[in-house]
Amino acid sequence: MPAIVDKIAETLHIKKHEHPDQSSPAASSSTADPSSAPASATDAASTTPVFDHEKVKVFFVLGGPGAGKGTQCANLVQDFGFCHLSAGDLLRAEQNREGSEYGELIRKYIREGQIVPMEITIKLLENAMGAELAKPHTTEGWEDGRGRFLIDGFPRKMDQALKFDEDVCLSTMVLFFTTTEEEMLKRLLERAKTSGREDDNEESIRKRFRVYKEQTMPVIEHYSKQGKVATIDATATIEEVHQKAKEIISKILAGEIGHNITA
Ligand SMILES: Nc1ncnc2c1ncn2[C@@H]1O[C@H](COP(=O)(O)OP(=O)(O)OP(=O)(O)O)[C@@H](O)[C@H]1O
Ligand SMILES: [Mg+2]
Repeated sequence: MPAIVDKIAETLHIKKHEHPDQSSPAASSSTADPSSAPASATDAASTTPVFDHEKVKVFFVLGGPGAGKGTQCANLVQDFGFCHLSAGDLLRAEQNREGSEYGELIRKYIREGQIVPMEITIKLLENAMGAELAKPHTTEGWEDGRGRFLIDGFPRKMDQALKFDEDVCLSTMVLFFTTTEEEMLKRLLERAKTSGREDDNEESIRKRFRVYKEQTMPVIEHYSKQGKVATIDATATIEEVHQKAKEIISKILAGEIGHNITA
């Protein structure tokens, strides 16, 4: 298995330098001011992230299962023109995409109950970001090769966090939605009635709580030490939580918050 992982990593690394779509139109245009272009993989040293965090704002959205990440992301997309990327959705889509070079591998890892190698998840995120930046945009926050992303449910483990920040784009902030396990369980059991998600059953939910505590909480602590965590109490109604999140993001985008904050 490690040999396969090495091979994937190697392949992905090489692929990284072949994708022209990782840069924005501004970056690929011959008339563009080079200083306004995001750094691209082609001109980057191996330790330079693909995207320049001064122009590309990445907000990680974390919180326990059922805390309301997806719900709030949908609201924030409307408010601020974010591109919302969910790592889980990208993996599922890639697995089902005809002609995917990673589909079989993803299927194999999932079938064997293993975590998909982070290189694949990160590469999917990077590709999705590159594709979004390459589209023409007229909305605020997307001019001149700029962009703003909500990355939902990622990074779930420390290694993913470190690798993304180092290789793809240094994250701007973590939105951390928090509430009690009791509340999350209640929400997920309710969602189970219509979600069709295989993991929306009590046994899976309990396992997800455990994995979240063991693997994702250290990620929150890591970013907290860097002063990059906005903790939002997600116990209130969807609209109340939305208003709190909206207020905080407005301030972060205006450059008014550069430290941990709690709302
Ligand atoms: N503040 C809230 N009050 C009551 N219900 C909520 C609230 N926020 C979200 N919900 C509901 O709880 C359920 C879980 O929300 P959501 O899918 O957004 O969670 P999530 O954090 O994305 O979960 P997962 O990690 O499983 O993807 C949904 O049915 C949603 O409608
Ligand atoms: Mg979700």
